[in-house]
Amino acid sequence: MIDNQQQELIIDHLYMSFTRPDDGVPLKVLDNISFKAGGGEFISIVGPSGCGKTTLLNIIAGFEPVQEGRVLYNGQPVVKPSPERAMVFQSAVLFPWLTVHENVAYGLKRAGMKTSDYKSIVKDYLKMVRMQGFDDYYPEQLSGGMQQRVALARALVLQPAMLLMDEPFAALDAQTRLTMQELLLDLQQELSTTVILVTHDVEEALYLADRVYVMSKRPGRFIHDLTVPFKKPRTFSLRGAAAFAELKTEILQCIFDQVDD
Ligand SMILES: Nc1ncnc2c1ncn2[C@@H]1O[C@H](COP(=O)(O)OP(=O)(O)O)[C@@H](O)[C@H]1O
Ligand SMILES: [Mg+2]
Repeated sequence: MIDNQQQELIIDHLYMSFTRPDDGVPLKVLDNISFKAGGGEFISIVGPSGCGKTTLLNIIAGFEPVQEGRVLYNGQPVVKPSPERAMVFQSAVLFPWLTVHENVAYGLKRAGMKTSDYKSIVKDYLKMVRMQGFDDYYPEQLSGGMQQRVALARALVLQPAMLLMDEPFAALDAQTRLTMQELLLDLQQELSTTVILVTHDVEEALYLADRVYVMSKRPGRFIHDLTVPFKKPRTFSLRGAAAFAELKTEILQCIFDQVDD
């Protein structure tokens, strides 16, 4: 079994440009990004819309090629997607024609596992995301939050060492969002999966993470990083603590300083 604590991602002087579709001019999107992630750590990345957050996650996932700089996973350059680095998207991209159980089983089935072997594993993961009893539902019969929980189970069932999350709760209502944050915090502690969460919700970033990176507007570079000093497991009351509010303001200030007036 893989030891999640031993996995390491190194991003070293990463630059990225896209070609603008209208005039063919290069558009600089990422500017000299360097950081490390691993050891079951929870990293949040916050930054203004369009600063390159999704692009950065896509590169880490292996969906976009590395143009300049290095992206190494356990010492090897990232050149393609791998089940070790699972992505959870903003909207739960479940297969609408498959049931909840079949959606979660999908990756295990593709990996060649027999029904008799994966059946109980799928049930365990559905229980973990508090979706027991919904095995035979279709995605359209679930709320947005429930769909996102199934998407989380579908990613986690493959036991990724690293979970890449691109604004996973952005489309959910405020209450569901809080519930999902608590769930994610619990699961991450239990499984010691390294998480890289991209969000523009500063409170979410801070409440969940061990480390927070703040990005500038495009081309995105890291303009601030902080180690979150609050012990885990965390409890809801932390959100109201003065020290929490202070760090939240520090990050917000950093983001506002970037906005053109
Ligand atoms: N495939 C692409 N081709 C051209 N431009 C792109 C592509 N993907 C993203 N971009 C551009 O890169 C910039 C950053 O996008 P993105 O990484 O999605 O930002 P964020 O997730 O921070 O909102 C945007 O200006 C966007 O238009
Ligand atoms: Mg994005």
